[in-house]
Amino acid sequence: MRIREIQLDSGAFLAPLCGVTTRPFRRLCRRFGASIVFSETISADGLAMMNNRTLDMTRFDPEERPIGIQIFGCDPDKIALAAKIVVDQVNPDVIDLNFGCPVPKFVKKDKGAALLRDTARIKKIIQATRKAIDIPLTAKMRTGWDESTIVVKEVARIADGEGVDALSIHGRTRAQGYQGVANWERIGDAVQTVSRVPIIGNGDVTDVATAERRMQETGCAAVMVGRGAIGNPWIFRQIAHYMQTGTALPDPTPRERLQICLEHLDLQIEDRDEQRGIPEFRRHLSAYTKGLDGASAFRNQINLVPTRAILEEMLTEFFESVARKEEVHAA
Ligand SMILES: Cc1cc2nc3c(=O)[nH]c(=O)nc-3n(C[C@H](O)[C@H](O)[C@H](O)COP(=O)(O)O)c2cc1C
Repeated sequence: MRIREIQLDSGAFLAPLCGVTTRPFRRLCRRFGASIVFSETISADGLAMMNNRTLDMTRFDPEERPIGIQIFGCDPDKIALAAKIVVDQVNPDVIDLNFGCPVPKFVKKDKGAALLRDTARIKKIIQATRKAIDIPLTAKMRTGWDESTIVVKEVARIADGEGVDALSIHGRTRAQGYQGVANWERIGDAVQTVSRVPIIGNGDVTDVATAERRMQETGCAAVMVGRGAIGNPWIFRQIAHYMQTGTALPDPTPRERLQICLEHLDLQIEDRDEQRGIPEFRRHLSAYTKGLDGASAFRNQINLVPTRAILEEMLTEFFESVARKEEVHAA
């Protein structure tokens, strides 16, 4: 599919995930074939004030392209200004608007999912941002504030009419948080409602079969994967391979997982240095080892590991022991 002039590799989108889709993880997911990656959400207020820490969050490596930088806020003019600043400073492929974040510190200030209660403001934000930048503009939303405020079709129509270049829809309401299941019927309704804007379906895609089924059921242009990619970035390779060939790729073996884990660790250290990179890597490390025999004891041991060399030794020992157990089991 395309987002305006950007031709995307077949596969799935990497969702924006606060604290997770930082530079190293985005690079890794692109290497595994994510069609496009998104930054975690970044404050329009901070950007508009040219706050250095906020601006630093917009930095990316050329290897990550195509990349979307996601912005949140509530004031249309400030969001438009922030988008312009991001384009001028780092020139990403896409600017993405956040109409879905459910956390109280956002919604209390009428940001993120709170905007789903004020679709007139959503329209103003899109119009102002569209006017401020020339590069592709996308948006990401939940289906509504709660069950009595489902606005997915209304916002899809606004996006369609106001020149948004792709709309990602997480099939939950704000009230649901991350509970229950995503409602893909509503994503399908949005697909039926629009005439121009590609709809990207999102919510609970954790394997190739689900990605394929959801696309068939709804007619969405692509799927976006969030939590299903943590500790599992090869899901993008699997989805891309399936789309191209119709055949499934197996999960990586324990020794391949070890290699991926070390590659990720190195990207993390390259980005941050050893002292800051290793603590940031822990969340991913837990996910890479989740469900494997002996994983929780291993996670307790690695929590205090200070250096890459020791971490590599421990990881090698852990994954080798998983591999040996699997070999004994298979024999
Ligand atoms: C830890 C975490 C952080 C998230 N951060 C963002 C964010 O910064 N911007 C955003 O639009 N959505 C954010 N989301 C929502 C995801 O992008 C996605 O819509 C949601 O997790 C459902 O997709 P999934 O089931 O594939 O994870 C976040 C979700 C999680 C779990």
